[in-house]
Amino acid sequence: MNRTPLIAGNWKMYKTGPEAVESAKELVLLCADIQDVEIMIAPTFLAISQVSKVVKGTRVTLGAQNLYFEKEGAFTGEISAEMLRDAGVEYAIIGHSERRQFFGETDTSICRKIKAAIEVGLKPILCIGESESQRDEEKTFSVLDKQVSDGLKGLGSDELSQLVLAYEPIWAIGTGKTAGVGQVRQVHQYLRSLLENLFSSNLSDQTRILYGGSVKPENAKALMGIEDVDGALVGGASLDANKFINIIKYNS
Ligand code: PGA
Repeated sequence: MNRTPLIAGNWKMYKTGPEAVESAKELVLLCADIQDVEIMIAPTFLAISQVSKVVKGTRVTLGAQNLYFEKEGAFTGEISAEMLRDAGVEYAIIGHSERRQFFGETDTSICRKIKAAIEVGLKPILCIGESESQRDEEKTFSVLDKQVSDGLKGLGSDELSQLVLAYEPIWAIGTGKTAGVGQVRQVHQYLRSLLENLFSSNLSDQTRILYGGSVKPENAKALMGIEDVDGALVGGASLDANKFINIIKYNS
């Protein structure tokens, strides 16, 4: 199965509107000749509409960092999947470990968000990953198993055809520590067979599984070269277009 790699930038709570527009413009220019790799950036909600105008019709696609699962209503401070799609968003990052850790997201609410994204045609990027203590206690696989099966509960292969998984070991996010090649290979292989067991071999074959956690230009080639790694979810190093393009060009 030929899976087009996805290099996705998560801008987190960085960049004002003008800064986001500037970075997006830089990136659009830098990646004009990129082929065979899909590129996505996820600015803050507030910058999405402005960035959408910049990336429209270019090699860069737009993502959101979160969404709320209700369609509309009295949910102060929230944004629906449809509102995001209307603003030009194609991907939605769901269940990022920072959202689980700081905003109380659970596998149950994450599952509702995945469903809400799929319902309006947004491609969900489900983030999963173990903490350092869970890894030390050899609970990595059981943690991932639960996050995937509960996060996708009630969904079938057909509905999940646009799903992207992002394996982000929490201990590697923003810490400068990257998981070793052997560790990443083992987990990605595990996740691919988990998708087969839970859903179908087709879904397992077609689903892109990204690695995230301190990906930078210096380690991108090694990480992206691992079998079953189909791209990266990049935080810090995606904020600078010149760094990000060197991750996108990991193969050159
Ligand atoms: P990092 O973040 O690249 O800064 O480690 C990754 C992420 O949180 O998606």
